[in-house]
Amino acid sequence: MTFTVTAASGHLGRLAVQALLDQGVPADQIVATARTPEKLADLAAKGVQVREADYSKPETLANAFAGTEKLLLISGSEVGQRVPQHTNAVNAAVDAGVKLIAYTSAPYADTTDLPVAPEHKATEEIIRAAGVPFVFLRNGWYFENYTENLAPALQHGALLGSAGDGKISAATRADFAAAAAAVLTSDGHENAVYELGGDEPFTMAELAAEVTRQSGTEVAYRDLPVDEYAKALVAAGVPEGFATILAEGDAEIRKGALFIDSGDLRRLIGRPTTPLADAVAEVLKK
Ligand SMILES: NC(=O)c1ccc[n+]([C@@H]2O[C@H](COP(=O)([O-])OP(=O)(O)OC[C@H]3O[C@@H](n4cnc5c(N)ncnc54)[C@H](OP(=O)(O)O)[C@@H]3O)[C@@H](O)[C@H]2O)c1
Repeated sequence: MTFTVTAASGHLGRLAVQALLDQGVPADQIVATARTPEKLADLAAKGVQVREADYSKPETLANAFAGTEKLLLISGSEVGQRVPQHTNAVNAAVDAGVKLIAYTSAPYADTTDLPVAPEHKATEEIIRAAGVPFVFLRNGWYFENYTENLAPALQHGALLGSAGDGKISAATRADFAAAAAAVLTSDGHENAVYELGGDEPFTMAELAAEVTRQSGTEVAYRDLPVDEYAKALVAAGVPEGFATILAEGDAEIRKGALFIDSGDLRRLIGRPTTPLADAVAEVLKK
């Protein structure tokens, strides 16, 4: 059996390769791909096969996917380019005779109004049309989206957003990676759509309270109108287009776009998901 993980140079891909190793897959049965294979030297040193794969360069994908039985197709990070890029990847997977495509999608991708969702919805449709058995891993937000950006909140005593009291079923990247590895290494997931989120949803105010509790620094959540939040993000150095996506995303989160109570993540990883308190502690100790 050969398992291929794309975008293995990214945070999630690297964790997914590690999760496959942790679940006992021999290193030489894992192919890790990246646009720049040199970034994967550490995995090559562990015996993982390393190959070049750029979603924008179909000629790299045929070689990358040769011999693959199960493919973890991690969505690319070039927003706006991803539909043609993922189409290239799916076509290459079909040509290579891949038996299962597990794709990292977004929560409720086919019905949500989250601004990042249309490319995921389109990719899911392309995969369904390809006729290869699939698994849609509709990953909720990473805890790390919040915890890796706590420095300004601690500095100013304020966490900004437009998410109101929207509940966020976030989870660690490591938990999402463990779920991805589990669907590759166990049977019975063909054509499943998993809505993946953490066991204990939190609001932004609850996140601020947890940061306050653990850091000893008073951090309050300040809920802003969408346009003001977008302006605050731009002022903090976030590029304008991305700031708009984030702020408009918060407007959907306020309405419940990231509340996920399927229990799918917990079931796939076979244990409770990592709690918010642990994710906050992890970054504060650094
Ligand atoms: N659920 C969430 O909260 C959330 C948050 C952010 C992103 N995402 C999505 O989840 C994916 C994985 O998350 P992450 O944290 O691992 O992101 P990340 O650390 O930013 O990694 C993105 C990965 O995509 C690769 N990539 C970008 N364009 C590519 C292309 N044309 N061909 C092949 N690979 C390409 C990058 O390769 P290089 O090393 O060559 O740049 C990198 O390995 C992201 O790409 C994005 O689609 C989800």
